[in-house]
Amino acid sequence: MFTTSAASDTPDYPMLTRQVTSLLEGERDLVSNASQFAAFIYDTIADLNWAGFYLARPARHDSTVQELLVGPFQGKVACARIPFGRGVCGTSAAQRRTILVPDVHAFPGHIACDSASNAEIVLPVIKDGQLYGVFDVDSPRLQRFDADDQAGLEALVAAFIAATDFA
Ligand code: SME
Repeated sequence: MFTTSAASDTPDYPMLTRQVTSLLEGERDLVSNASQFAAFIYDTIADLNWAGFYLARPARHDSTVQELLVGPFQGKVACARIPFGRGVCGTSAAQRRTILVPDVHAFPGHIACDSASNAEIVLPVIKDGQLYGVFDVDSPRLQRFDADDQAGLEALVAAFIAATDFA
C-alpha cells in the first residue's frame, strides 16, 4: 500500500508525511493513531528493528513524578518503564528535544532493550507545550540516521501529533 523510493537510502519523507496524514485522516484516537503510525514507520523505513512510543505516565513509586511507559510499537518486546533522564528516551523526554545517536554503544546510559540495536533516534511528542511522550526508532545499522532522517522523522511525528487527540 505504501512504498519508499527504492534506490535511495533516505526515504521520500515529504511523500511519507502526506501518506501518514491520509492514513490517519478521520481518526483522532491516541491508541489507534499511535499503533498505525508505529506500524507505518516500521514498514516503510528501511533497516529498523524497533519503532514505537513511550508515553508520559505517573511513576509507580510516586504518582507526582512522570516516567515513560511503553506504548504502541513494532519490534521485539521492550523495557516497560523508563525514568525521565535515563537512556536515550528519558533524555529526549527530559530535554524535550530530538536525540540522534549514531552509535548507541557510545551513549552513556543507553538502555539496551534489543541487543541488535546499534543506532537510535528519539523524538519528543509535544503538543501545545505539553510533552505526551517520545517516539523511538532503532536500527541494527551503525550511523543509520542523519540530519535528513531527523528532519524527515520530525515532520512525520508532527503530522501524527496534528492528527491525534491526546487528552
Ligand atoms: N534504547 C532506549 C530504550 C528503549 S528501546 O530501544 C525500545 C533508550 O536507551 O532509552
